Amino acid sequence: MSAGGRAPFDRGACLVEEMNSTVDKLKLSVTILFIVAAGAWFGAPLLTRGQGQMLLTEPIAALPWRSNKPFKEAGYVGNQACAECHATEFDSYHRTAMARALQLPADSEVLRARQRLTFRVGPYRYEIVRRGEESIYTVSDGNKVISVPIRYSFGQGKAGQTYILQYNGAFYESRVSYYREIDGLDFTIGYPRTVPSSLEDALGRAISMDEARSCFGCHATAAVAGRSLQLENLMPGVGCEACHGPGRDHITAAEAGRFNDLRIFNPKRLSADALTQEFCGSCHRSAEDVLSLPQQGGINNVRFQPYRIFTSRGHDPNDPRLSCTACHNPHEHLRQDTAFYDARCTVCHRSMASLRSPALAKTESAQGRTAKACPVKAQDCVSCHMPKVEIPGAHFKFTDHRMRIAREGEPFPN
Ligand code: HEC
Ligand code: HEC
Ligand code: HEC
Ligand code: HEC
Ligand code: HEC
Ligand code: HEC
Ligand code: HEC
Repeated sequence: MSAGGRAPFDRGACLVEEMNSTVDKLKLSVTILFIVAAGAWFGAPLLTRGQGQMLLTEPIAALPWRSNKPFKEAGYVGNQACAECHATEFDSYHRTAMARALQLPADSEVLRARQRLTFRVGPYRYEIVRRGEESIYTVSDGNKVISVPIRYSFGQGKAGQTYILQYNGAFYESRVSYYREIDGLDFTIGYPRTVPSSLEDALGRAISMDEARSCFGCHATAAVAGRSLQLENLMPGVGCEACHGPGRDHITAAEAGRFNDLRIFNPKRLSADALTQEFCGSCHRSAEDVLSLPQQGGINNVRFQPYRIFTSRGHDPNDPRLSCTACHNPHEHLRQDTAFYDARCTVCHRSMASLRSPALAKTESAQGRTAKACPVKAQDCVSCHMPKVEIPGAHFKFTDHRMRIAREGEPFPN
């Protein structure tokens, strides 16, 4: 990989080896990214914006499977172009949250379905009103008014949705967000629940170019090239090419039958640790990211699954049976039935019946099920050992990926 971790994405599978050998450099860039990503949904509770801006040296496009080239040269083709040959992945992908991680207001289901959303704090009144294909975000203090169209809606809205506005030539993150649980507006997570100091402060928070690059880098495709934001080319959501790199050369190679040089990145070839921590962790936050923070995030850490798994006592992060893809197929909608996950645990843990039968315990161990059995229950493992945790103000219970014996009333283990 070239200096600073900026390998252009053009060498197909051989990148995998390079990637493993340059994990340290990559970790550095991902860490820095994390620190700068002071978006209230992630970073703001952890540190101040000023610090973040100082620390940024590498944009998200520096990750080796991403392209650093300007849009045209990079060779993006869009999700639809993959459909013809990869119907299985393509068909289920549309239902995923990641596919809808960013939407234009014209397409946002939450905004389309709501004519008017309101919120009030102190003298400030908020309104999001639907007008044709647009949604207009308005805040007033009784005398003055700021009224701007929503430019981008972030998040499919499973927990909530935050809006990016443009005002006085800068991007603003909306101070209020939509939350599914209350089907209405409330303060964006991470903001103090106090009366804003001015109308402009009530509108939201101006975000720097560096931060905008991080936000769009995680929620959209082809929006960032090197250090520049190329929003005119943005493809909403985490598309095929956000994870696999631009597809043009691959399609040419596939059509020409060059199967030994397919020119597309397949994360399957990464080690379990690299897949979890570096690949999924580049957006979901790795252990390295969280541990290197000056102050660690407390309960907000529950959202950083790679970190939580890494700190699960007794669980080896290098074991492929614990990588993100052991439980989640990134091309499919999240499974929410607890029974689905049992087999993901019992691939290592012995059965309850084995506690009473040494012979069974021996057979299971021989099959690789060497971890202890549960003395309490034989099903629905995750319902007790991966508890759901509510972050104050998030109106949502996140799944704690730190697998453990969770005792009632215990403090959140950081
Ligand atoms: C013209 C048909 C065609 C199109 C279009 C196409 N692919 Fe492929 N792709 C193939 C073939 C053939 C293979 C090799 C056999 C297989 O894995 O299915 C392949 C393999 C892959 C692999 C695995 C590569 C490896 O080294 O293991 C990935 C990842 C992939 N394609 C992603 C994509 C993405 C993303 C798109 C859209 C940008 C896309 N493909 C578009 C034909 C195509
Ligand atoms: C380019 C950034 C990016 C990468 C890489 C990425 N994710 Fe995501 N992921 C997101 C974003 C953003 C969301 C939030 C989508 C939303 O709810 O709007 C998300 C949401 C999810 C969800 C939640 C689905 C739901 O219905 O709540 C799962 C599960 C998930 N990702 C798994 C993975 C796995 C597994 C990997 C690695 C194979 C991965 N992600 C890699 C950005 C990414
Ligand atoms: C480092 C990558 C990253 C950055 C930067 C980032 N996000 Fe996210 N965001 C994610 C992931 C991953 C999720 C899903 C997991 C979760 O909710 O914790 C998510 C979830 C969300 C959600 C909730 C989605 C839902 O369906 O409930 C919103 C809203 C959101 N982000 C808004 C933003 C905004 C606004 C910014 C920038 C100001 C931003 N994010 C910056 C990765 C990122
Ligand atoms: C969030 C990241 C992410 C997104 C988005 C994504 N993929 Fe993948 N893809 C992966 C991962 C991770 C693997 C390896 C899965 C595994 O280990 O089995 C993969 C594997 C593949 C493979 C190879 C399968 C194999 O058996 O080797 C193909 C083909 C593919 N993806 C196509 C697509 C297409 C087409 C899209 C868009 C419709 C897409 N992917 C979107 C992460 C992603
Ligand atoms: C051993 C199984 C397992 C592994 C490994 C795993 N998850 Fe999960 N994950 C779950 C379960 C169970 C849920 C909750 C499903 C539900 O909604 O009931 C979940 C939910 C999620 C969600 C939705 C938000 C939430 O908090 O509920 C995201 C995002 C996510 N996982 C990301 C990841 C990432 C990234 C990795 C890799 C670091 C990962 N998961 C590894 C089991 C797993
Ligand atoms: C890769 C193998 C593996 C997988 C997959 C796995 N575990 Fe474990 N788990 C272990 C090992 C090894 C230990 C250490 C103690 C032991 O030998 O049982 C452990 C320990 C535990 C503990 C005790 C932790 C403590 O603090 O004492 C619990 C609870 C647990 N696992 C639950 C789960 C659940 C629930 C799942 C599925 C969601 C799961 N594990 C998946 C290997 C695994
Ligand atoms: C109803 C909640 C519940 C469910 C469901 C459950 N467990 Fe447990 N599990 C517990 C409790 C409570 C303990 C602690 C028991 C004790 O310390 O006396 C425990 C202990 C454990 C331990 C530690 C055992 C030891 O000897 O240290 C493991 C491993 C474990 N469970 C795995 C699992 C697996 C795997 C499943 C699914 C097959 C599962 N659990 C389902 C509540 C549950």
